[in-house]
Amino acid sequence: MVGSAAAYAIALMGHASSIVLVDLNQALANAQAEDISHAVPFASATRVSAGSYDDLKGARIIILAAGASQKPGETRLQLLSRNASIIGGIVSEIQRVAPDAILIAAANPVDIVTQIVTRVSGLPSTRVIGSGTILDTARFRTLLGRYLGVSPFSVHAYVLGEHGDSEVLAWSSARAGALTIDKVAAQVNVPLNDEVRARIDDGVRNAAYTIINGKGATYFGIGAGLARLVEAIGRNQHAVFSVSMVTENVEGVRDVALSIPRALGSDGVVTDLVPELAPEEHEALRKSAEILKAQVDTLEL
Ligand code: LAC
Repeated sequence: MVGSAAAYAIALMGHASSIVLVDLNQALANAQAEDISHAVPFASATRVSAGSYDDLKGARIIILAAGASQKPGETRLQLLSRNASIIGGIVSEIQRVAPDAILIAAANPVDIVTQIVTRVSGLPSTRVIGSGTILDTARFRTLLGRYLGVSPFSVHAYVLGEHGDSEVLAWSSARAGALTIDKVAAQVNVPLNDEVRARIDDGVRNAAYTIINGKGATYFGIGAGLARLVEAIGRNQHAVFSVSMVTENVEGVRDVALSIPRALGSDGVVTDLVPELAPEEHEALRKSAEILKAQVDTLEL
């Protein structure tokens, strides 16, 4: 569903001239492509079709969303074994038909999947991007904005590290407009105490579990986020997102894929923009990197 939701969002926003859906279930891919193509006349001049890997020939950007999704209560890292083997097979097919494409990994556990795709493809790490914590960052901005009475578009706050239970909300660098969020809270006369921070942290960290318990999966939020990444890459915007990428050194942990703010352009990641962090945030980021590294080491990539 994530792939189709992303295709729907990309078509609605007009971020691609052509979208090709590839799925083992050809009937499903055909139906999703046909359904999305009926939205096109209301939105943009996008060609939407379903096909095989051969139809991806020459693609500039390829989103890898195939894989099982989390079951209620299942962590993203627990999903690893079911998705690791699926991804490996897909990458070799993609390399055959579109070796120059920028790859966006969206299947969970997305940081490990990003690491697998990078290793199997042999591409430079900057050309293999994981959706990472873009959705968590959006959730953080939404909950902060709602509490402070500011549009999430004007909240600049990031979630770093694993897209999962060890993710790090970077409170110390969070801004609304040109003010730190504690100054905004004082100006709008609302407390920003530990209880409020814990409530927002819980809302961000556990959003997916809540939604999955209610409807079985999440896809609209991540679909829109993937569409925005396609726009930034496709239009060479150098816009900044907390995407995952194999990173040489994170708080002393080497060669691990996780999310930090990075600028995206037509060749993938243009530059990392590591925010200034409080000591406790550095420590949390190091722990997150170690958790992911331990998972990667079990795969013997
Ligand atoms: C979520 C899925 C995309 O966080 O991991 O909703």
